Formats: sequence, C-alpha cells, structure tokens
Amino acid sequence: MDTDHYFTAQPQAKSQPEQFTVSVREVELTLTSDRGVFSHGRLDDGTLRLLKKMELPDSGDFLDLGCGYGVIGLVAAILRPEARVTMVDINERATRLAADNAQANGISNVEVLTGDAPHVLGDRQFDVILCNPPIRVGKPKLYELIGDAADRLRPGGVLWMVIHTRQGAKTHLRDMAPMFSECETVSRKWGYRVFKCEK
Ligand SMILES: C[S@@+](CC[C@H](N)C(=O)[O-])C[C@H]1O[C@@H](n2cnc3c(N)ncnc32)[C@H](O)[C@@H]1O
Repeated sequence: MDTDHYFTAQPQAKSQPEQFTVSVREVELTLTSDRGVFSHGRLDDGTLRLLKKMELPDSGDFLDLGCGYGVIGLVAAILRPEARVTMVDINERATRLAADNAQANGISNVEVLTGDAPHVLGDRQFDVILCNPPIRVGKPKLYELIGDAADRLRPGGVLWMVIHTRQGAKTHLRDMAPMFSECETVSRKWGYRVFKCEK
C-alpha cells in the first residue's frame, strides 16, 4: 500500500494512475486506480465477491461506503439506472478517481462525497449500503462506521458487506449483528465472507 495507508485523506505516494477493465454481471467498465488508493491496478477479490452476491432493488437510495476508486457504486449505478447512488471515501485521491471514473463511463446517477462518512453524509438515509470495509482502521472506527451505516438504513434496508476470514470476519459479524435486526452469511468463498444485514 505504498508508504501510507489507503485510508489517508491525502496520500503522499507519487501518483501513478493505472487503467484496467472490470467485467462482472454483464457490466463492463474501464476504470482508473492509483497508488495510495485501495487495490491499485486491479479489482480486489473481496470486492468481486461482494459484486457477485449483492442483491439490489430496482430503485432507491444506495450508498457505496468507502468507495475507493468507485467500482462498487459504479457497477450498482449501471445495474440500477433508476437508483441514486452516493459514494463516499475519506481519501481525496480515491474520490477524485471515483468521480472521474463515473464521468469516463457515462454514469450520471451517482454523487461522490469526500470525508469521514458519518460526518459528510449528513442526514442521508439509504435503502441499500454496499461496503468492503476498511478493516485496517481498527475496531473502534470500523464499528463506528458500520453503526452509523446501520442508523442510516431505512426500515427493511440492507447492508451488504464483505470481510476476509483472516481479517476476523466471524468476530466482526458477531459484534456487528446487534446493530441490525438480522444478519446472515450469504457466501463463503476464496476465504471471503459476504454478509447481508437487514435493518
Ligand atoms: C477496503 S477499501 C474498499 C475500497 C473500494 N470500495 C473497493 O472495494 O475497492 C475501504 C475504503 O474505506 C475508506 N475509508 C476509510 N475510513 C473511512 C471513513 N472514515 N470514511 C469514509 N471512507 C473511509 C478507505 O479510504 C478505503 O478506500
């Protein structure tokens, strides 16, 4: 991850943009990532697991929590053109990429916000939240982010989240489950667990 963490607001790593293609669920996107941003130059395996498993209503308000260069929110926006997709990340380089990637792929039903999610999201509420969470921020911040996400879900809303088993997926599920009315593991593959948590 270069010299700084991917969740730094202003990465110091020298910019080295890299373009690649993502094909998933019959969606094809050409995306640009960069050093100092999560998963430089390739789609993360955990993100791919989430993209394959997430179920989306036809419309509504979706949130890509910790959007990085934007792949999850952009795939959701293409799959559901009637939805409004908010994408947020604390990393300024990441959100610049996410906005540029939306424009480059002709995707207009997205809004990109920069900053600490609980603060910049204001009073926004969502029907679906999609998240490959920043485990490396540590448990207190991680649980603050997920607790805030749970509070933002409308009744019946769903959080879809992926965590690697080696990053404590089972423990995180146990600790976060009380924030929701129901949580289940919908997939276990390649060491990743995909969780569906309903409000
Ligand atoms: C594991 S990465 C996932 C990135 C992207 N969604 C993907 O799947 O490639 C988690 C992201 O959460 C972001 N993040 C960390 N702390 C955050 C915070 N307080 N508010 C918003 N985003 C945050 C990081 O900068 C990082 O981009």
